[in-house]
Amino acid sequence: MNLQLTVNGRGWAGEVEPRLSLADLLRERMRLTGTHLGCEQGACGACTVLFDGEAVRSCLLLAVQAAGRAVTTVEGIDLDLGPVFQCGFCRPGFVVTAEALRRAGLPATEEVLSGNICRCTGYRPIVEAVRRCLT
Ligand code: FES
Ligand code: FES
Repeated sequence: MNLQLTVNGRGWAGEVEPRLSLADLLRERMRLTGTHLGCEQGACGACTVLFDGEAVRSCLLLAVQAAGRAVTTVEGIDLDLGPVFQCGFCRPGFVVTAEALRRAGLPATEEVLSGNICRCTGYRPIVEAVRRCLT
């Protein structure tokens, strides 16, 4: 299928398989590997991207659903959460979620950030880092 969308402010057009996920489009076709894949079931949040400004799980969306939309990945976000992560696998998801909160003017609560799973670090330093970024 023909697909056109905007990613990090740049237009992209190409042919994609109907069942290609948005995450795989970003990682494999566009080489935007900052978007991580953990569970591929919508549970971990590592694949979070902005979809017309809203935080979504890119593993759960088909690439063709992004036709005509604006996608922002972690590579397109200038938000430094600092050295609070250990392995860093979850970091892109937290950065994108933080950016979604920043754009919406919403506070960083433990509840909203609990949609991003970190297997290494305690959540308190991450939540505090996001709060610092948003002030
Ligand atoms: S990889 Fe998408 S939510 Fe885990
Ligand atoms: S720092 Fe390793 S998963 Fe979060």
